[in-house]
Amino acid sequence: MTNGELFNAAVKAAENSYSPYSHFKVGAALLTADGKVYTGCNIENASYSLTNCAERTAVFKAVSEGVKDFKAIAVAGSGNGDFSRPCTPCGACLQVLSEFCGDDMVIVLSNGWYRLADFLPMRFTEESMK
Ligand code: THU
Repeated sequence: MTNGELFNAAVKAAENSYSPYSHFKVGAALLTADGKVYTGCNIENASYSLTNCAERTAVFKAVSEGVKDFKAIAVAGSGNGDFSRPCTPCGACLQVLSEFCGDDMVIVLSNGWYRLADFLPMRFTEESMK
């Protein structure tokens, strides 16, 4: 699976976005170590803080099915149907990714790819508590 294909899967996942408040559709596509893709979208709530981001939806879907080895995640977000501007993962999603992914986890955006460590260089992990 190429980064482009993974990004296109994220754009497609954004179709299911439930975002009546922000009108900002986000999709994520999470590539597992064995080549499977779990997708997710943002799911908003009238009690705004209960909103779940697309990335966390994808991670929770995978983990709830027993899958915890990930290679890459693509994220696509748009308020107008144009997904060409990069939609960077929020801090909460980065922290959730950090629980299951190493520094080299690939994050694919519309403008290229990055590493988890690019976004979260001094992340809080299990090691931090030793
Ligand atoms: N959102 C995501 O789904 N992922 C992110 O990383 C950033 C923000 C969603 C949450 C909310 O539904 C909308 O985008 C606007 O913040």
